Amino acid sequence: MGRVLVTRPLTEGGTDPLVEAGHEIVISPSALPKPELVSMAPEFDGIVSHLTDRVDAAVLGAGKGGMLRVVANAAVGYDNIDVGRANELGITVCNTPGVLDDTTADLAFLLILAATRQSTEAERDLREGRWKGWGFGDHLARDVHGMTLGLVGFGRIGRAVAQRAVGFDMDVIHTTRHDTGLHGYVPTLSELLERSDIVSLHVPLTESTRHLIGAAELAVMKPTAVLVNTARGPVIDEDALVDALEAGRLYAAGLDVFEGEPSVNPRLLSAPRITLLPHIGSATIGTRTRMARLACQGVADVLAGRTPPNAVTSS
Ligand code: GLV
Repeated sequence: MGRVLVTRPLTEGGTDPLVEAGHEIVISPSALPKPELVSMAPEFDGIVSHLTDRVDAAVLGAGKGGMLRVVANAAVGYDNIDVGRANELGITVCNTPGVLDDTTADLAFLLILAATRQSTEAERDLREGRWKGWGFGDHLARDVHGMTLGLVGFGRIGRAVAQRAVGFDMDVIHTTRHDTGLHGYVPTLSELLERSDIVSLHVPLTESTRHLIGAAELAVMKPTAVLVNTARGPVIDEDALVDALEAGRLYAAGLDVFEGEPSVNPRLLSAPRITLLPHIGSATIGTRTRMARLACQGVADVLAGRTPPNAVTSS
C-alpha cells in the first residue's frame, strides 16, 4: 500500500477513498511551509494538495528518485501546480471538476447581487450606526433583473451562472477562445465588455488570462457596469480596477479571489462600491467533502494503476 501526504486537513470523510484502499495517510495539521513540502515529497507516493501549495519543479523534482506518482489538488483550479514538469516526470496531476460548479455559481450570484445592489455598503451603514431610518432616496443602487450578464469563460461554472441568470430575467452573453455555437456567443472580449451590464469571470488562470481585465478592458466597460470575479485574482489587474472604481468609470465590483492571497491589496479594502469575500466560492460542507473525496479517489486510482478521470495535462 502507498503513503499519501494530505497538506492540510480535509472535511470529515474526505479521505475515505484512501482509507478504503488501505493507504497510509499523513495529514498535516495546518498548511505546510514550502521547504517542508519539498523535503517531505520524496517520501510519499501521492500528495493531496491545496490551491495554496505551490507544487513547482522544486517539489516535483524532489520526488525524483523518490516515489511520488500523483498530486491531486483539492480544487478545480490547478494553476498552483507545474503540470508540464509533473507530466515530464511521469507524475499524474488531478483536480476536482464538476463537483463544485453549482456551489461556486451560487457564490458568483451572491456577488452579482451584493455588488449590484450595494448591500455591503448598506449593511456597513447599519452596523456602524449611520442608518437613521427608512429613506426614499437612500441606498439607491442598480437592478440585476433585466440586465445583460456577460460571462468570460463558459465552462461548467460559467454555464451554471447562466442558468441562474435566466431566473433573474437577464440576457446572457458569453465569450470563450472557441466559438461555442451556442446562443449568446460573442466572438471578442471587448464586444462582451461593451455590451454587458454585469461581467462575471470564469476562466482558469494561465499566462493568457493573467491581467485579462486591465485598464484597457475596464475602459471599454459601461460606467454603470459591475465586475465579479470568482475565478482567480490575477485575472484582474487590481490597481486598474481600483482606479476605475475611484474615478467612477466602473459602478461596482465583487471579488472572491485576489492577486496576492492571502494578502489583499489595501487599495481594494478602501475602494468604493466593492464587496470582498475571502475565497469561499466552493466553501460548503457538502461540496468541500465531494472535492476532498474526488481528489483522494484520483490518488487511489493512480496508486492502483488506473488513469483517473480527473487527471489533467498541460495545454
Ligand atoms: C477554488 O478556487 C478551486 O479552484 O476549486
